[in-house]
This record gives sequence, structure tokens and C-alpha cells, in this order.
Amino acid sequence: CGIVGYIGTQAATEILLAGLEKLEYRGYDSAGIATVWEGEVNCVRAKGKLHNLRSKLEQVETPAQIGIGHTRWATHGKPEEYNAHPHMDTAMRIAVVQNGIVENYRELREQLKQKGHQFRSETDTEVIPHLIAEFLKNPPSVPQSFSPSDLLEAIRQAVNHLEGAFAIAVISADYPDELIVVRQQAPLVIGFGQGEFFCASDTPAIVSYTRAVLPLENGEIARLTPLGVEIYNFAGDRLKKQPRMLNLNPTMVEKQGFKHFMLKEIHEQPGVVRASLEAYFNNLGDSNQSPINLGLPESLYADLEQIHIVACGTSWHAALVGKHLIEQLAGISTQVHYASEYRYAPSPLTANTLIVGVTQSGETADTLAALAMEKERRQGKEPKYQARLLGITNRPESSLGHMVPHIISTLAGIEIGVAATKTFIAQLMAFYALALDLAYRRQTVSLDKLVEIINGLRQIPKEIEATLASQESLTEQLAHEFAETQDFIFLGRGINFPIALEGALKLKEISYIHAEGYPAGEMKHGPIALLDAKVPVVAIAVPGSVYEKVISNSQEAKARDSRLIGVTPVKDGEAAEIFNDLLPVSNVDELLSPILAVVPLQLLAYHIAARRGLDVDQPRNLAKSVTVE
Ligand code: G6P
Repeated sequence: CGIVGYIGTQAATEILLAGLEKLEYRGYDSAGIATVWEGEVNCVRAKGKLHNLRSKLEQVETPAQIGIGHTRWATHGKPEEYNAHPHMDTAMRIAVVQNGIVENYRELREQLKQKGHQFRSETDTEVIPHLIAEFLKNPPSVPQSFSPSDLLEAIRQAVNHLEGAFAIAVISADYPDELIVVRQQAPLVIGFGQGEFFCASDTPAIVSYTRAVLPLENGEIARLTPLGVEIYNFAGDRLKKQPRMLNLNPTMVEKQGFKHFMLKEIHEQPGVVRASLEAYFNNLGDSNQSPINLGLPESLYADLEQIHIVACGTSWHAALVGKHLIEQLAGISTQVHYASEYRYAPSPLTANTLIVGVTQSGETADTLAALAMEKERRQGKEPKYQARLLGITNRPESSLGHMVPHIISTLAGIEIGVAATKTFIAQLMAFYALALDLAYRRQTVSLDKLVEIINGLRQIPKEIEATLASQESLTEQLAHEFAETQDFIFLGRGINFPIALEGALKLKEISYIHAEGYPAGEMKHGPIALLDAKVPVVAIAVPGSVYEKVISNSQEAKARDSRLIGVTPVKDGEAAEIFNDLLPVSNVDELLSPILAVVPLQLLAYHIAARRGLDVDQPRNLAKSVTVE
């Protein structure tokens, strides 16, 4: 979901629409805008994409200078217009947009219904305008601290009755000079212009108007008026806060000649690896210096016995590569967990354990909750059990950044395509740095070997460039062959098993073709039953410890008539004979091969989806940051 809000001296509707367009990447299935003009709330909503909303708005143009907008990704209630935000109270004087979930909405809804409030949707959000209306009509009799506005006070009362994780924005026909926003565990940022103020779920929505921003923290309410911004906590105390300048310019959120953001972001990957090399890998001339420079304190590493990594989606795949690197290079037992599972079924408490949360957005609710749970259950325990938390994220300013004391920032630049590409490669780089840092400190790998690996990494940007140059048209042509294909199998082993998972996930996400990633050796225990001439198999076969094994597993697929596509540097011999199609990658150290092997798989998924005419950047039902459980 995405929220935008505006108060100032310009016509609000266009600014809100433009802001929502910049948040489209977050995923949505309906949208709406409410403005206040001549003592009325004008609320317009539409099912589907923003152009539906835009054409409806053309018929009701208003010069209103205050408004809120929303793109909704359905949680409670179908993606229909009556469930789209903004939602209003019975008298239609208050309009609210929300991102997140109000967990106690059923009980609030019943109470409000009994008091005569009429509900028009199936959403959890609708309780909020009704609750605010109720507190405006019947302020609690207990004396409250001074509040500059009745609306602010009623909203403060209301949010104190809400349970869950949410961000909201509110306007009212009776308070035409106030836009009030609240943050409770869902992102919300305020933008400061000249006599105009903005709010949004993410900075791309406001960066074309101002770069002075203030991200709200949990438990904060902001009151935006044409005169300025006031921040309060949920107890009603005024807080002092200063905006900071964003390091993001508007062109970073444009397609720059590429047909889709995803394709642009795939092509940005060599630069992303370079940024990481520059920031975290030292020049190896100086012998006494650590080759890695993550800026993490020794206390994080001291006596480390175990690592647990929590993540979701593509970040979970990066974590699996990370596990392989950490275990093989630094010899530390490492487990990777789906955050949504770990938060309710954590591993038994172990001592001297590092907990790593990986999330490109830094806002994924499950990942944050898993980390919060870990922090809480270790509180007050003896020192060796205390939480050692590390975050790996592309958005250090995110909720994750606030929650954990140490961050590896993945430096990929903002990613707009819903399907993660460059942020995945950047996460891999973070894990190379972490694994090598651990290996250096624990002396589990010789300095020569470390130097060799780092020198290999330095070649990677060039190799990705070569892969992109040679694969762009190859994958585009190959994509034609799969017009009717309904299932794909991706095989990999060892360090490239997670890449098979990622190849399958990319294809699934954007082309809607069923795809499974499997460890090549496991295929014979199930997926082999699916194979026939209609099910292509993509095998990642790179020279190293499991090369011959992957080739034999591929033979097993070929014997079942599958069309075999090989991601392999080997152009002759057995490999060339067995594969029907080759997606060649350069021959690099097996340990580094995942960064290269994923690139043709990203391109293949992209071209198959683009050829099918699908909405590559905003695949159906998916959202970029999933801020709900
Ligand atoms: C969503 C996105 C995925 C992403 C996952 C985890 O499902 O569609 O592309 O991998 O969230 O996101 P995170 O921001 O935590 O890495």
C-alpha cells in the first residue's frame, strides 16, 4: 500500500496522483483520493490501476489545496471500489487512509455500530474515521493536556485504542487547514516545502517537490498545517525534530530509456557491485590491514558460535548464499529462517549468537517482528545470551535501521521494480564482505586465499557487463520459445542452489509461470515425475565441486524429454552436447559464481514476462514492501 498527503498552496489532486504513481511500485489493486474544498470532503476511488482513478478525477476537478491519497493492496476485503481508501465516518466529514492492519477492528466495529455508526466497507481501516468522529463528538471526560486542535486530540484518542501496525493520514471538512498523520510500525515520511508540506509512505513520492524530509518514528503523530509541522507522541507531548536532506534525486526514480524499471535495474548491477567493492573492500597493499571494512565492532564477533539469519522472499535466497559462504569460509554454523516462521517458532536460545535480519526495504513486517522477538527474549539474560543484532538493508533509514544497532548498507540505490534484482546482488556482496571479514578475524582462510577471492570479486562488475552484453538478445530470443510453457524447473547445487530458487521465484513473480527451484540431486525424489517435453529445465552448471553431479542430474532430465537450458561457462564437450540451449557465463571461482549465474536468469524471466505483455514492474498481487504480517 502507499499513502500520500499534501497541504499547501497548489492544487492538491495532481500532486497526490503524481505521488501515487511514484508509489505504484509498492503494489496495489485499487486507489483513491480525498480532498477538502468548500466545506466538503470530495472522495473519489477506483478499482484497478491509477489511470482508472485519474479518468474519474477529471470529471470532478477541484482547486482543493489539501488532500490525501492511497493505493491499496487488499488485506481485509476484496479489491473493490467500496473497500478502496479513503474511508469516511457516517457523516462523511472525516477521511482516512491507512497502510497496515488494525488488529482489533472487529471489536471496535461492533462497539461503534452499537453507537449508531454506519459502515460501508469490509475493511479494518473504516473503524478509524468512525472512532475519530466518536471522540470529536464525545471527548473523554478525563482532563487532557492542552492540545492545539480538537481534531488532533480526537485522533490521538483514537490511535490509543488501535492495536496493530499502521500508518494513517487524516483530513476533515471541519478542519480544512489540518492534515494529521500517525506512524505505528508502518513507514511514513514528511516532506518540507516552501509553505507546503507532504507526507508519504516512501520518499520517491515527494522527492520531485522537496528533499527536506523527516521520517516519523513509531508512536508519533504529526500535525501539518500551511504554517508548519508539529510532532507529538501518543501521550500528547510535543517533540522537537529537524528534517534532514535526502540523498536521492528525481532522476533516480525515472526509467532512463529502459522499457521497464526491472530491466534498468538489471543493467545497474555492475555499478552496484562496484559501489560495494569501493565501500567495503580495502586495497590489499597494506599487509596489516583487514581486507574488509564493514565498520562493525569486535563485540559483535567475539566468541561467536552461531549465526541465525531471518529474511523473506529474495532476501531469504541471498541469506542462503550467505550461509554457504559463512559456513565454508569462516566455519560458523549458520541457519537461515523464513522470518514469518521464526517469529512464532524460534530456535532454542543459544549463547554467543549473531542474529542477522536481511530486508532490502527494511520494512518487511515479518522480518522486523522476528528481530523484535529475538531482542525481547534475550533481554535481561546473562551477557553471553544478549542480543547481537545486525541488519542488512538497502534502506538504512528504514524501520530496520531504527531497530538494530548495526547495519550493512547494501548501496544499490532505490529499487522500483517489485521483483528484486540489483538489491539481491547487493545483498550477496554484503554476505561476501561479512563472510570474508569473519574468515579474516578467525583466521579460517589463508591470507593468500582471501586475496584471491577479493581479486576475483573485483573482476565481477566487468564480467556482469559481459554477461549482459551477450545475454540480452540471447534471452530475448529464447523467451519466444516459451509462449505456451506452463511449468519450469530450475536446478542448482551447493552455492548455486539458492540461485535456482531465485531464478524460479523471478519467473513466477513476473511471468505467472509455475516454476520450482530444486537442489539438482533432489530432483529424482519428486519433481522428476513432472518432467516431459513441455517442462523445460534450467540447470546451473558451473565448474567446481558439484559440476559433474549437476551434469548427471541434467542427463536424467534430458532422458525424460525435457528441454535443457544450461547456465554454464562450458561451451564444448559434454555440456555443449547435453544442453539444448546455452546461457553462457564466464568461468569464475565457484564461490563467486552465484553473482554471475543469477543474471541470465533475471533476464530470462524479464523477457518471458515482457513478451507475454505483462506488467513487469508491478506484477499482480505482489507488493514491494510487505508491511503486513
Ligand atoms: C516482497 C517482494 C519481494 C521481496 C520480499 C522481501 O514479497 O515482492 O521481491 O523479496 O518482499 O522484501 P525485503 O524488503 O524484506 O527484502
